[in-house]
Amino acid sequence: MSLLIAGAHQVATPQGRSAVRGPALDRLTVREGSVVRCEGDRIVFIGDPAEHERRFPPADDVLDADGGCILPGFVDPHTHPVWAGAREAEFNRRLRGESYMEIAAGGGGINATVRATRVASTEALLAGTMERLDTFLRHGTTTLEGKSGYGLDLDTEVRMLEVLRAANEAHPVDIVPTCLAAHEVPPEHRDDPERWVRRLIDEIHPEIARRDLAEAVDAFCETGVFDLEQTRRLLADALRHGWCIHLHADELTPLGGAELAVELGAASADHLVYVTDNGIAALAGSPTVAVLLPGTSFFLRSPYAPARRMIEAGCAVALATDFNPGSCPTESMPAVLALACLAMGLTVEEALTAATLNAAAALGRADRLGSVEEGKAADLVVLAGPTYHHLVYHWGVNPVRHVVKAGRVVVLDGELI
Ligand code: NIG
Ligand code: FE
Repeated sequence: MSLLIAGAHQVATPQGRSAVRGPALDRLTVREGSVVRCEGDRIVFIGDPAEHERRFPPADDVLDADGGCILPGFVDPHTHPVWAGAREAEFNRRLRGESYMEIAAGGGGINATVRATRVASTEALLAGTMERLDTFLRHGTTTLEGKSGYGLDLDTEVRMLEVLRAANEAHPVDIVPTCLAAHEVPPEHRDDPERWVRRLIDEIHPEIARRDLAEAVDAFCETGVFDLEQTRRLLADALRHGWCIHLHADELTPLGGAELAVELGAASADHLVYVTDNGIAALAGSPTVAVLLPGTSFFLRSPYAPARRMIEAGCAVALATDFNPGSCPTESMPAVLALACLAMGLTVEEALTAATLNAAAALGRADRLGSVEEGKAADLVVLAGPTYHHLVYHWGVNPVRHVVKAGRVVVLDGELI
């Protein structure tokens, strides 16, 4: 099966097979008047239409980009897509002055979603997840990392990861599964959090490994949740199982999560709103990707991560939605890019690189995903606007017109097909 995408005004992409840093984040390759040919699930040609005609037979299928702009599909390297029970009432309480942590301490927050998720059927969790994946895809996300973490008991954590597996099989969006059973201390262990840490290591991780349900482990390293020492033990155990590590680091307080992530060779350290100079220096000197989540800062009305300082120091910066029912209920990477540019000071070029190639690197997939290059996955977005600037410039709406996943048109004129 071959697909030709013709009639684009522009193809814009970062380039490479590993994360980029510093001034290189700001560099895109932009081609005008080029076509893109996919064969099977790969890109095989980007270039002049006449050369395409000379070298290839007519394609089985042609997608008319109609003057739009071709980009790599977005990779969202940090999402919490499986849950029941929205938290719009908490949102309203926050608007009236209560803080996220105050609401959590009163039994709301993550534990409110845990209560609703535990009693939801696996079918209902899968149906909710599939619907959210449709929204991700319509907004141009073709691969995402999905975390468990609203079960906080063996049965529900396993069910959440099974939902991610089933959704990955049933939906065009590729899902990279992460076990986040260390998302919060479950209510039944509130008096003895240490007991939950031991159970994670002795019971939960071995069972997830036995069922082969995760590729990575994550933890919420935060004041009042898991301290540095507990997080170190949890993540060291993950490494023993052969999993990658992601870490919710320095999100609400400067605890040193960035330094710990680097010390343990984490694939990514995420949030980093309160990262210290020391943490920035550690990240800059390491392969650990700094995943920034400006949608969460916006939605919690809290400070933004020091993105400019991190880029200038040489950190490999990526962007993600953090999609979840509490701190950032949006599936839209274009919305995240708009915030990255308008609130954190990235250029559109930097934001696009961070949301594609560097996001793929955070998931260990920069060799296959994240740029429009021959040999890479045929995961592509066609914007309605003629240039890549429209991705951010035309803000507050969905700028994505068509989406191609693994060489197949899956969104046409904004509609799933
Ligand atoms: O990344 N920090 C912890 N986890 C989420 C919030 C989850 C929730 O509020 O349900 C986050 O912000
Ligand atoms: Fe998160």
